[in-house]
Amino acid sequence: MNARQDPRPIIPIRNAYELPAPTSRDDLTRVGRGTPMGELLRRYWHPVGLSTDAGDTPREVQVLGETLILFRAGNGEPGLLYPRCAHRGTSLIYGKVEDDGIRCCYHGWKFGPQGQCLDQPCEPEGGKMRHKVQQPGYSVAERYGLIWTYMGPPDRQPVLPQFEPLEHLAEGEFLEADDQSIGGGGPVVIDCNWLQHYENVVDPWHVLVLHGTFSGVQFTDMMLRAPTISFDYTPIGVKVTSLRTLDDGSIFRRVTEASLPTLRVVPNPRVGQYARVESIGFVLPMDDTHFRIYTVARVREKGELTAFRSRQGGKLWRELTPEEHRQYPGDYEAQVGQGAITFHSEEHLATTDKGIAMLRRMLAQQLDVLAAGGNPAGVSFDPAEAMIRFEAGNFHDPLVG
Ligand code: FES
Ligand SMILES: [Fe+2]
Repeated sequence: MNARQDPRPIIPIRNAYELPAPTSRDDLTRVGRGTPMGELLRRYWHPVGLSTDAGDTPREVQVLGETLILFRAGNGEPGLLYPRCAHRGTSLIYGKVEDDGIRCCYHGWKFGPQGQCLDQPCEPEGGKMRHKVQQPGYSVAERYGLIWTYMGPPDRQPVLPQFEPLEHLAEGEFLEADDQSIGGGGPVVIDCNWLQHYENVVDPWHVLVLHGTFSGVQFTDMMLRAPTISFDYTPIGVKVTSLRTLDDGSIFRRVTEASLPTLRVVPNPRVGQYARVESIGFVLPMDDTHFRIYTVARVREKGELTAFRSRQGGKLWRELTPEEHRQYPGDYEAQVGQGAITFHSEEHLATTDKGIAMLRRMLAQQLDVLAAGGNPAGVSFDPAEAMIRFEAGNFHDPLVG
């Protein structure tokens, strides 16, 4: 058929030259102190390292756009301090950890894990006024093999939550913590905005396309059956229910949740067993354009959690050549491919993006709650109510009738 006989109307190209300047949802993406989302995130506890990261070598951690120094005094107490020494500003990364605190390299002032100044060796009598000096820092706690911090206003500090999937272990189960960004599909530190990953948790359709074809088949064949999908709000997030009919007519029901503030509650897509969700991923925004993921799981064998890592084109992400990254893209390529912070003004959300629209709406509502002086969903000030529960898991619904 030549061009004249083609019945399709000729539509002129949408010329990219005429694209308006792009914009992003700064309210939802930016994490610095004083930004709307930065303040919302600061109302929750976040993991900043494995328990073993807090040791006698000071370690720099990047959290919500801030650089902090993590260490553990010889007496076992962890500390997370502002890096600039309260004396004249040298970084405590060069400090030496002692039995009761960290000593600055420059003039030797020593600070306890709570920031109290314990020694000023060049001052007469070790500093008669030293008790008036305190190095700033943040509250820390330890749970599930992770170090947690609260970086918000002190009078709004909630209790450190407990997560039901990580409690009540069955016989033979134990918890394993991982800091390698499992689920991110790439390196440990991922160079794009955290929300691009968080939204992916409630984007079930990409499983069929990205993970089912482009990446090579990453999960079980069962995951590639076309699902019936529904999206619902939970008290602290958005849940996705995917129903797949099995050969005998029974139903494989998979529930995935994105929960406040940054939790990925995703059942293992490769495990053939039916169970409540076995792991929780905590997405940590390091700054506006970098994040990493800490994960804790119930396991039965040491190293089981690391084995959750998926493959692209049959290889681990770090084994791929640049050409193979192009040929077998996974979550990392797709999400970093959206840009450091995606241009929301250029999106065309469709019906299958309902989960993403719901999640953004929920986050925006929480910003409103904060702006009105309230406390966001999911925080508790009563230790008796610190348990967070989820519906996520892989379930088998028997034949009806
Ligand atoms: S700058 Fe730290 S002790 Fe002087
Ligand atoms: Fe994915």
